[in-house]
Amino acid sequence: MNVLLLGSGGREHAMAWKLSQSSLLSTLYVAPGNAGTEQIATNVALDPMDFNAVDRYIRRNNINMLIVGPEAPLVAGIVDHFQASEKHKNLIIVGPPKAGAMLEGSKDFAKAFMSRHNIPTADYATFSQGQLKEAKKYLDKRKPPYVLKADGLAAGKGVVITDNREEAEATLEEMLENNAFGEAGSKVVIEQFMEGIEVSSFVVTDGSAYRILPSAKDYKRVGEGDTGPNTGGMGAISPVPFVDAEFHEKTLNQIIIPTIKGLQKDDIPFNGFLFIGLMKVGSDPYVVEYNCRLGDPESEVILPLLKSDLLHLFDSLGSGLLSEYDLQIDNKTAATVILTSGGYPGEYKKGKHIKGLDNPPNEKTGLIFHAGTTTSRGKVVTSGGRVIACTGLGNGLEQAIERSYKIAESIDFSDKQYRKDIGQDVLVKVS
Ligand code: GLY
Repeated sequence: MNVLLLGSGGREHAMAWKLSQSSLLSTLYVAPGNAGTEQIATNVALDPMDFNAVDRYIRRNNINMLIVGPEAPLVAGIVDHFQASEKHKNLIIVGPPKAGAMLEGSKDFAKAFMSRHNIPTADYATFSQGQLKEAKKYLDKRKPPYVLKADGLAAGKGVVITDNREEAEATLEEMLENNAFGEAGSKVVIEQFMEGIEVSSFVVTDGSAYRILPSAKDYKRVGEGDTGPNTGGMGAISPVPFVDAEFHEKTLNQIIIPTIKGLQKDDIPFNGFLFIGLMKVGSDPYVVEYNCRLGDPESEVILPLLKSDLLHLFDSLGSGLLSEYDLQIDNKTAATVILTSGGYPGEYKKGKHIKGLDNPPNEKTGLIFHAGTTTSRGKVVTSGGRVIACTGLGNGLEQAIERSYKIAESIDFSDKQYRKDIGQDVLVKVS
């Protein structure tokens, strides 16, 4: 089977690594990929948002399966583009069409969906441009901290949580009047603050059958102790120790099954990953957000725990055979630490030579996944804010964390920065 995977981050390197082990694979292409995917697949200089260019490439290279890694092409309708064409009727696509991707593409759409289907989530109200006065008045009904979310995709920057009423009002002005978030902020969702601990649930579904992947927890803030600005993710662990049988059952019965039934009732097609960001409040799960793809860096801890062949899983998903698929999960634990360019998530320099990649760990104990890397004059150099994911695998969280930090220390580039406390909060709670 010839496969084209779209994306260029750690998630796509982890997917490419797992796909490359499949006996079903003939050729794996990654567009645009990074220096890590280049070592195990053929990188193709294509922009995932240029659907016509992707279309031409698929036709000319006899591609059988298209896997869409990031959310932007899904929300922009890449799946609909291919489904509308008779020429691509045999192409297997992993990723939902636009209607399903709107669960991530519009916070207001997702909240209305949850409200229609009685899926537990924070109370909310949505305000559009021209409703600034009403939005400010609504803050009277909410106790601080105020939670304000730009409706559309904003690359992780569209959420503001503040105790300060003036800052909340200024944010509303920025979003609704000054266009600070562009189209994404033309509507704002104001939510009740939920006090709890975050965890994510990952489901592969064709909109009817589903398989559940290991739980994961990511670390979004740049600084230790969850301080500083939000990033794409500074590290992750999987599975999460506090996701016990009771919490898993509640998540399944109160959230996963009602979500899939809701998609069916609303006639919303879905074929791919449903990534559900949850808040554990007391002992109960509430939905923080839906995403229509795998997480990054969550992929770098979840995919190494799959014993099953990922391409076989995708083939079953695309062939309507997911309900018969026996998904096998390893009982190890994974932790990943992200090495970032100094300055990230603000400004940072690129082109720094990355040393220490020549002696990778034994794959049973650790893996190195590239994110913002490229090859320049035969050397691997930095090309993004998040550079390398250092994944440790172990019998338990403590060993996985220790192994991931060992890898993190063995790789070097100038201005390397990383959080030193990945997984420690939940480690303390269970020991
Ligand atoms: N790590 C969060 C995300 O992928 O959206």
